[in-house]
Amino acid sequence: MTNHKIIVAIDGHSSCGKSTIAKAVAARFGYAFIDSGAMYRAVTLFALRHQLISEGTVNEQMLIGFLPEIQIEFRYNPEKQKSDTYLNGENVEDEIRQLPVSQNVSPVATIAEVRAAMVRLQQEMGKNKGIVMDGRDIGTVVFPKAELKLFVTASAEIRAQRRFDELTAKGEPVSYAEILQNVQERDRIDSTREASPLRKADDALILDNSNMTREEQLVWVIGKVEESLKFHVPDSK
Ligand code: CDP
Repeated sequence: MTNHKIIVAIDGHSSCGKSTIAKAVAARFGYAFIDSGAMYRAVTLFALRHQLISEGTVNEQMLIGFLPEIQIEFRYNPEKQKSDTYLNGENVEDEIRQLPVSQNVSPVATIAEVRAAMVRLQQEMGKNKGIVMDGRDIGTVVFPKAELKLFVTASAEIRAQRRFDELTAKGEPVSYAEILQNVQERDRIDSTREASPLRKADDALILDNSNMTREEQLVWVIGKVEESLKFHVPDSK
C-alpha cells in the first residue's frame, strides 16, 4: 500500500455532473475537492453586487481593478460534510448557485485577468497534490501535468434536465426551456472564448455520462484513479 498522491483534473461541459463525481472521488481517496467554477461564480457575485454587470455586459476594467479586493476561500462545513465557498469572509455557497450568477458567470470567466488570478490560487491549492479539481481548464492550464485527466460530457438536453431537477428539488421556480438555453449558451461561450477555452487535453480520458448512473461513473473513475496511482508510483529507492 502506497500513500503517494496524485492530482485528478476533471474538465467538461456545464451541468454534466463533474462536481458530483469529483466530490465522490475526493471522499473515496481522502483528497481535497476544489470546485473551480465556484471561484468564478464568487467573482461574478461580487461583480453583480457592485453593479459591474449590466444586461450581460461586464465592466471589465473596473472588475480587474477590484481583483485585489476579492478574497475567495473554501471552508469545510462539518454539518454538510462539504466545503462552502466564502467571498470576503461571507458564506456565499447558496447565492452563487442561483440563476443571476449562472446567467452572468460565463462573460466574467472570459476575462484573462480574472482567470490569471483564479489559476494562481488553484495552483497554490494543489501544490501538495492529493486534490481533485473540476472546471474547464484544469487539465489544460491549471495542472497540465496532472497524473489523471478526465473530460466529462453529456448531451445538452440531459444536462438541462438534470439542472432543472436539481433546482426544482430546492423549490426554485425555473423553466426547462430557460435552463436549456442557458446550458447551450454557456457551452458556446466556454468553447469559443479566447482565454483558456474549454477543450479536452490531449491526454484526457473521455467520460460521456449521458446514459450512466452516478454509481457506474464512480466505479469507472475510481478504477482510473487506482490505475493512475499504480502507474505513478514514486521512485522508492
Ligand atoms: O455548474 P456548471 O458546471 O455549469 O458550472 P461551474 O463549474 O459552476 O462553473 C461556472 C462557470 O465558470 C462555467 O460556466 C465557466 O464559464 C466558468 N469556469 C471556467 O471558465 N473555468 C473553470 N475552471 C471553471 C468554471
